[in-house]
Amino acid sequence: MDANRLQLNPSNGPLYAGIPTIVTYNGSNFANLVPLKYKYPLLFASIRVHSRLIIQNEGALFLEWQNRHQTKLLPRPLLSAIPLPPPMNEQIASIQSQALELIATATDERSLDDARVASIGKKGTLSLAGALIKDIPNEEKAAFGQSLNAARTAITSAIDEKQAALQEVADKAALSGIDLTLPARALPTGGLHPLTLIRDEAIQILRRMGFALAEGPEIEDEYHCFDALNTPADHPARNEKDTFYFNSGKLLRTHTSSVQIRTMETAAPPIRIIAPGSAYRRDEIDATHLSVFNQLEGLFVDTDVTLPDLKGTLEYFFHEMFGTSTEVRFRPHFFPFTEPSFEIDVKLQIKGQPPRWIEVAGCGMVDPAVFESINATRKDNALDPTKITGFAFGMGLDRLAMIRWGIRDIRLLIENDTRFLSQFA
Ligand code: DAH
Repeated sequence: MDANRLQLNPSNGPLYAGIPTIVTYNGSNFANLVPLKYKYPLLFASIRVHSRLIIQNEGALFLEWQNRHQTKLLPRPLLSAIPLPPPMNEQIASIQSQALELIATATDERSLDDARVASIGKKGTLSLAGALIKDIPNEEKAAFGQSLNAARTAITSAIDEKQAALQEVADKAALSGIDLTLPARALPTGGLHPLTLIRDEAIQILRRMGFALAEGPEIEDEYHCFDALNTPADHPARNEKDTFYFNSGKLLRTHTSSVQIRTMETAAPPIRIIAPGSAYRRDEIDATHLSVFNQLEGLFVDTDVTLPDLKGTLEYFFHEMFGTSTEVRFRPHFFPFTEPSFEIDVKLQIKGQPPRWIEVAGCGMVDPAVFESINATRKDNALDPTKITGFAFGMGLDRLAMIRWGIRDIRLLIENDTRFLSQFA
């Protein structure tokens, strides 16, 4: 016989087939000997979990074990001294009461789950005891099965009850110190950007006067941005220092006036459009300049559009925008695409500051040369300068926002600082 093999034989003492037997060695539980391999997995399981050994066969059974420090034989006399284990149903009762004890003392979700795994988990005490059913004499199987089921039911419902109780305690703890009668905290709400607000307001005012929305590309060609707008090749605005050009010769539009051309290329009078959008210039960025800014273009073309129409329309617009007592002045100016042309100033009154004029827009009567160049592209005479006239205007939306809310630095409009923006929400 091998040194670490022991032949257990029923004749060695009170070891009986099918009867779990407690095996101890040197006063310590057999399981403490760290058994590594057993010929019978069932033995391994039951010894590990119950510290009990089942002798399965009537014949000889070999048991191997190893201590981390020593390899020893289990001495025969000790085996003979092993007392008879309690009957199976008593064992199940003890498994059940141990499990209920663990459940009862569980203090949280985690320890309750540990108790569940230790008892009715796959390798729990009750499940392993259940696996013994095949070693039990047939006539006892039914009773064994019933006591197993009863134990499982008792343990499961104890777990459920404990679970509910723990939850209740947790809920109470979560709510303790909370005054449910306090008003709810306000949720932060988003808001529209001041530029969006001012643009929408401008659109509303002009739509009430019959202007429709139009648009055009931000990446433009020189023709639509300058040539068709009667701007000669040597005009300073066309300079590379002032305009963003692409290698292709295209450019970022320097104003929204190009939308006038795009619209007149396809529509016939009467034309009444507005075009809000971005414009780009190679300006040094400071408190009043950005290289991307926002304009709103307007164009009215019909058979008898006159300068008083222009003046009335824009005066009405600025009175709607800033209040009817706001003073508006038209100052003669030059733009290549309008004749006569004006700049429009609004008188800004801020409390504690002397009133001052602020330039907000350019405008004028459409230059007949513009109509003619469009007719040439259209190859018709839809914009016959002897029959039709028009006015156009372009205003800076950033300027309008700065005036409306007394914003001193235009950069605030693009910095996305919520301390600034939340004032408009
Ligand atoms: N496009 C001009 C600018 O960006 C503004 C302007 C002036 C627009 C006169 C017009 C106009 O439509 O008629 O400075």
